Amino acid sequence: MGAEDTCCGGIGGDDPIKRPGTGIRSRSVSTRAVCTDDKLQQGIAEFYDASSGVWEDIWGDHMHHGFYDPNATVSVSDHRSAQIRMIEEALQFAGVPEDPVKRPKSVVDVGCGIGGSSRYLARKYGAQCQGITLSPVQAQRAQALAAAQGLAGKASFQVADALNQPFSDGQFDLVWSMESGEHMPEKAKFVGELARVAAPGATIIIVTWCHRDLSPSEESLRPEEKQLLNKICDAYYLPAWCSTADYVKLLQSLALQDIKAADWSENVAPFWPAVISSALTWKGFVSLLRSGWKTIKGALVMPLMIEGYKKDLIKFAIITCRKPE
Ligand SMILES: C[S@@+](CC[C@H](N)C(=O)[O-])C[C@H]1O[C@@H](n2cnc3c(N)ncnc32)[C@H](O)[C@@H]1O
Repeated sequence: MGAEDTCCGGIGGDDPIKRPGTGIRSRSVSTRAVCTDDKLQQGIAEFYDASSGVWEDIWGDHMHHGFYDPNATVSVSDHRSAQIRMIEEALQFAGVPEDPVKRPKSVVDVGCGIGGSSRYLARKYGAQCQGITLSPVQAQRAQALAAAQGLAGKASFQVADALNQPFSDGQFDLVWSMESGEHMPEKAKFVGELARVAAPGATIIIVTWCHRDLSPSEESLRPEEKQLLNKICDAYYLPAWCSTADYVKLLQSLALQDIKAADWSENVAPFWPAVISSALTWKGFVSLLRSGWKTIKGALVMPLMIEGYKKDLIKFAIITCRKPE
């Protein structure tokens, strides 16, 4: 398959930020593929339609990294609890209140996968959760799991675009985006939508893949760094990447409060090696083959994620803030 067919790196990729006047330098991760946002969205939808079943078979509800103590020895059975821990660590980092009066009553799960976070948050807070995904297969599966777990009245899912959300202004107490931001071609529009649907006083949590912050003397990443990210973009249907500092500037430009960011790359280090090991089991191998080329291609670039982290190029970032009252 040629780069033009793959529809990923560099889509809308000249400027992932697309926000004049914020002082954020634009940079392009990919210079190859020329593709519309529509084609990117179609690629994302098809990728998750094809791969979500395999992932669920092996990993369960959550399509995100686990959170681990740095340098901990991790056994195979620890990974699912590490994924739950990721949710808890994110909530704690953002200071989401636990107290029954102040805790979130309405949650939007932006890029919800098969709805693992929504169901977890619905249970934890008794909140009404609404998830959106580009993948019809995911939305259906998320709804079926909610029904099977007695949460149909608490969690609902639909196919919708995070950059144009089907929600009114100020609707949600908690705006949750767990590992979906990396798919968004226009980060300013993405963050703008998160802020728009947040109620006054709401917490916004973005956990996402970023590239390293640039030094003041740098205009862009180095060519070999761009090359590595390009390969990952091709396989995972990602547009141009941005840095954690870029996200912080975008949130500042929207006058959001209590903006905090952290690099959790060390805390996710055991994750990709575990995903690779699971793909190398007989069950993983057979499921991969059954799910088709898009999923296989995703599996083949997994070692590049490890390389990106090791080279300090890829950062696993959390960025949180609060909408003013
Ligand atoms: C890696 S999965 C994360 C799933 C989920 N947050 C979790 O932690 O299990 C990325 C998700 O982002 C969704 N996504 C990507 N781009 C999107 C967009 N523009 N609008 C809505 N969802 C999007 C995908 O459909 C997929 O569900």
